[in-house]
Amino acid sequence: MSNPTKKIIVTGGAGFIGSHVVRRLVTTYPHYEIINLDKLTYAGNLANLKDIETESNYRFVKGDITDAAFITELFTTEKPDAVIHLAAESHVDRSISSPNEFVITNVVGTVNLLNAARGQWQGAYDKHRFYHVSTDEVYGALGDTGMFTEETRYDPHSPYSASKASSDHFVRAYHDTYGLDIVISNCSNNYGSHHFPEKLIPLAINNIRNNRPVPVYGKGENVRDWLWVEDHARAIDVIFHRAASGETYNIGGHNEWTNIDLIQLLCRILDRKLGRAEGESAKLITFVKDRAGHDLRYAIDASKLQRDLGWEPSLQFEEGLEKTVDWYLANEDWLNDVTSGHYQQYYEEQYTKR
Ligand code: NAD
Ligand code: TYD
Repeated sequence: MSNPTKKIIVTGGAGFIGSHVVRRLVTTYPHYEIINLDKLTYAGNLANLKDIETESNYRFVKGDITDAAFITELFTTEKPDAVIHLAAESHVDRSISSPNEFVITNVVGTVNLLNAARGQWQGAYDKHRFYHVSTDEVYGALGDTGMFTEETRYDPHSPYSASKASSDHFVRAYHDTYGLDIVISNCSNNYGSHHFPEKLIPLAINNIRNNRPVPVYGKGENVRDWLWVEDHARAIDVIFHRAASGETYNIGGHNEWTNIDLIQLLCRILDRKLGRAEGESAKLITFVKDRAGHDLRYAIDASKLQRDLGWEPSLQFEEGLEKTVDWYLANEDWLNDVTSGHYQQYYEEQYTKR
């Protein structure tokens, strides 16, 4: 990885986290060439990158990681120095209704990329890097205490987390078997701008602003550890450049919230910002049938990343949530665009049967 002018393929760069990673790399490293490889599924949106799309060190390539021939051809023609792999099917509820798509995209798609990287980089693995972006959900669920460390045994429960766990195993296998330079990070739940409103925080903001019921699964007692997406992008930058080959890092926010406390906080913020009476938005909270196999609690021990590479979260949650709400309220066109069309059908299927 000594080449100072790198050509990096970022997969899934039109999605939520990927767009923040692409923006960070394009603006921080003007001497790098960043290729955003994305299929543009329902979750991929080039409007997420409008502010940097004309930068000379940025390029978009539309393509599908499940198409092995296309991926091999792309690596042969582009000869990338490195890959930062984020493309995935990422929503647990969708994985419960359509598990096969998660196997094909998350497992087969990842193996296609590994094969292409292996073929292209053979004999020079020390000059290249395959960075696989994964999730804390591979570790399963915690009880009331404890945290996930890098040594926690994999124990995925949803088709989504099982597919991500499988892809992590393949990435490690290519390191152990072929000597490919890989790094993996497992991050907790992200929040921030450009987040597709099927996930809890943007869905709740969108529903509250539209005076629609805010669905809370079960009793709302499940706990998630929330991290600002730009802090995740910064962690990926640091790990990509400085981690030793074969390393794994957990990334988390030291920021655990039950879903119900988080929704109530969001309701208070939106009451204030929308000029509503205190308590008005909270009336929209609606308890609905719990998610099947719902993991009780996630919490990340990110001390290895802090110790080895000096990374820690930069934003307090309340501040990050304020910024996030401000972004969605200032970008109602973005929200209206992504929630038209197929979103309506998804929403009906997901929530009317609960
Ligand atoms: P996202 O759903 O917002 O974006 C996924 C992107 O991948 C989209 O742009 C989509 O078009 C693209 N994509 C999907 N299938 C593709 C294919 N076959 N070929 C090419 N592109 C394809 O997801 P996200 O929330 O930004 O997550 C990005 C990555 O980070 C995922 O690997 C996810 O598992 C991981 N992760 C997410 C979180 C989180 O809180 N969102 C936390 C930890 C890890
Ligand atoms: P989500 O944003 O889907 O992320 P993940 O399942 O990957 O953690 O969900 C976060 C939490 O919020 C999870 O415990 C499920 C819950 N949830 C709801 O209560 N209502 C909803 O409408 C959604 C989408 C999620």
